[in-house]
Amino acid sequence: MTAVSSQQSRYHPTIIALHWGVLLLMIGVYASMELREFWPRGSTLREGLKLVHYSLGLTVFALVIARIVIRLRTTTPAVTPPLSPLLKLGATGAHLALYAFMIAMPLLGWATLSAEGKSIIFFGIPIFPIAPVSETLTEFFEETHELIGDIGYFLIGAHAAAALYHHYIRRDNTLVRMAPFLDPGPKAPL
Ligand code: HEM
Ligand code: HEM
Repeated sequence: MTAVSSQQSRYHPTIIALHWGVLLLMIGVYASMELREFWPRGSTLREGLKLVHYSLGLTVFALVIARIVIRLRTTTPAVTPPLSPLLKLGATGAHLALYAFMIAMPLLGWATLSAEGKSIIFFGIPIFPIAPVSETLTEFFEETHELIGDIGYFLIGAHAAAALYHHYIRRDNTLVRMAPFLDPGPKAPL
């Protein structure tokens, strides 16, 4: 893959597609788990929603690995006007946290099912366990998965709010770099 020049106004198209694709997957991952509460334990629909959760969550994992590889082989377009060192640090920290989240959550979910001794089904295909069967490990993985799942709401919410801050208040090209549907032209200052 050829490197993308920093003169380009947007992220690499594959990065953009993966970014918004993962947003849709995340909506499905969270919705499937939140909605399961509406059906009684053991019901077909509730179990079906859990299978959807596992399959979509594992898809996030596969895509984030691909995304990191592509991201490391392409360069990021510059932000105009440039960010202060503090804003830059905050953005990098938030992005690293989001990448860590997209890796840790599927692994913790997969490890939970493994430690419970349950089968792990990815779109109908059984896959291998990644942890030994253990009650202690189940509890640890499940609780950590739940805790980071809650943190994820905050992380994604703050990330989306930051994108809006950049676009509407700071009026830089941060959002435009990730959004092919927005006008890339320079903005007049407020
Ligand atoms: C981006 C990926 C993922 C996110 C954001 C996520 C998020 C969540 C959330 C919010 C819950 C509800 C926690 C609660 O009870 O309040 C949950 C539960 C759970 N998740 Fe995930 N998850 C992800 C991936 C996975 C994967 C890949 C698996 C397994 C292959 C998995 C297995 C589970 C299990 C076993 C539960 C507990 C379900 C139950 O028995 O009620 N998760 N997850
Ligand atoms: C809710 C809607 C969302 C909006 C409006 C949004 C917006 C953006 C924007 C504008 C950027 C470019 C930031 C920059 O280059 O400084 C970006 C980057 C990023 N977003 Fe989102 N995002 C959203 C959801 C998500 C979700 C759900 C995730 C993952 C859980 C995510 C993960 C990331 C990551 C990791 C980057 C850094 C890209 C890189 O440099 O490799 N975003 N997002």
